Amino acid sequence: MKMLTLSVLLGGAILTSSALAACDGNVAPPAVPPVPSAAPSGVPAPSANPSVAPSASVAPPTAAPFKMKGPVATQMTAELAAIGLDPKKLPPIEKLEPEKLRKVMKTFTKALGVQCNACHNADDFKAPTPHKKIASRMWNEFSRNLTLTDGSPLYCDSCHQGSMRVLDKHDKKELAKWMQAELVDKVKRVDKKEHGCDTCHGDPFEGEFLDKVWAKK
Ligand code: HEC
Ligand code: HEC
Ligand code: HEC
Repeated sequence: MKMLTLSVLLGGAILTSSALAACDGNVAPPAVPPVPSAAPSGVPAPSANPSVAPSASVAPPTAAPFKMKGPVATQMTAELAAIGLDPKKLPPIEKLEPEKLRKVMKTFTKALGVQCNACHNADDFKAPTPHKKIASRMWNEFSRNLTLTDGSPLYCDSCHQGSMRVLDKHDKKELAKWMQAELVDKVKRVDKKEHGCDTCHGDPFEGEFLDKVWAKK
């Protein structure tokens, strides 16, 4: 089942790129190099730093390639203990006492290397935003229900390691292989169910589930 999903996905990736290649052959190249329409020349495009945009969700695939880092055991056990939390037994985020929730916020900014406004509307911290929805589900479904195979707990810093953006989406085929090696083979579920792509991507497989599913509810 795991491998089937992977090969279906890889087949899809290959099909897509050859379809694009065929398409390219029929289209005349643009006479002038495309200029990003929103950014006047000399002004850096705001999307250049994906960690500060509150509304823009997942980083655009056009950002520069970088080396992805696999998940590690959380380094924030002491910080969480100071709040009265054990990363192995986190309560659902909705159940956190307001006082603890406030203190947890600092662990988010540190783990993701962002400011409060990366997730919040600074005028109204209660207002729902796509990044708040994603963060809540990362807490409930990743940190609470996933560990490394040796049982080490995964907190936000485990996968984010100081950066909101962690995936290089240039090569979807390479990314799928990385997902298998880093997020499937090195990880297990606390609920002891079989862990595979579907734990995160759902069944049927949704590649962009953060934007298309998690950011919405
Ligand atoms: C990674 C995203 C993220 C970052 C960064 C973040 N928050 Fe939050 N914040 C959340 C989530 C998720 C909740 C809980 C939402 C819920 O369950 O209603 C929340 C809740 C809150 C609440 C309670 C609001 C309410 O609904 O009662 C306050 C206040 C708050 N955050 C302040 C901050 C401050 C101050 C910072 C910066 C130090 C910060 N947050 C950084 C995601 C974030
Ligand atoms: C098992 C690994 C893992 C854990 C644990 C994890 N995340 Fe994530 N998170 C990811 C990945 C992968 C992405 C996609 C990032 C990208 O597209 O570059 C992501 C994306 C996000 C985003 C959206 C970023 C964007 O650009 O739209 C937010 C917000 C976020 N995570 C918050 C959190 C918070 C808060 C925690 C801890 C409660 C957490 N994550 C725990 C893997 C993880
Ligand atoms: C622990 C959670 C997790 C597991 C397990 C996982 N992924 Fe992912 N994957 C993510 C996150 C988070 C993203 C970013 C989704 C988004 O941007 O909406 C992502 C994105 C992707 C993308 C890029 C999708 C796109 O079109 O932008 C591919 C391809 C992918 N994963 C393949 C796989 C495959 C294949 C497996 C199983 C071998 C797998 N993933 C297992 C969390 C996971």
